[in-house]
Amino acid sequence: MSVDPAKCTACRLSANRQQVVLPDGPISGLLAVGEAPGRQEDAQGVGFVGIAGRNLDRVMAACGVQRDGYARTNIVRCRPPDNRKPRSDEVAACAHWLDQVLRDWQPRVILAVGQSAAERLTPPWSGSYLDHVEQLLAGQIPMPRYQGIPVVPMPHTSPLAWNRRRPDGSAIRDLGKRAVERAVRLAQPT
Ligand code: URA
Ligand code: SF4
Repeated sequence: MSVDPAKCTACRLSANRQQVVLPDGPISGLLAVGEAPGRQEDAQGVGFVGIAGRNLDRVMAACGVQRDGYARTNIVRCRPPDNRKPRSDEVAACAHWLDQVLRDWQPRVILAVGQSAAERLTPPWSGSYLDHVEQLLAGQIPMPRYQGIPVVPMPHTSPLAWNRRRPDGSAIRDLGKRAVERAVRLAQPT
């Protein structure tokens, strides 16, 4: 008997959610993977519809991809209480759902939106996450793969992260834009 994904109770996040936020968007091409649903996602049952989602939509659109041109999901599908970070046992409990989507949808590129998604989908790195993203975009380290699919990590688009500057003064969103540009380019059919 397979579990209905909309009724999963495999981890404690099921206790406080209003609904499971299932993946949405076109099958194939580019799949954005975020951390977890927030308040608006939990209320509407759709991923990336809050401020972080609008920031992502905007930077995608600037790269020529509208909301109906990319797909979205998260490493956990239920909203953590008070938007706390998902715990490792919750991420582990939800892992098979994400793996199944990757097998079924076979995206050409995964865009890991934020450090939590990158930790789930790429090997560990040393130093700061944003420096790591910079090194990947500069080609100093090869782009990681997950289930054979290239993963492009980017800064999280929540306003707290997105609107800040890095210690060298550069805007975090500029790094994010470069990551999205790379992901969009890699996702083009060849
Ligand atoms: N909305 C989501 O669905 N995921 C995030 O990571 C952020 C906002
Ligand atoms: Fe199931 Fe994932 Fe929701 Fe946990 S977060 S209850 S594993 S769907």
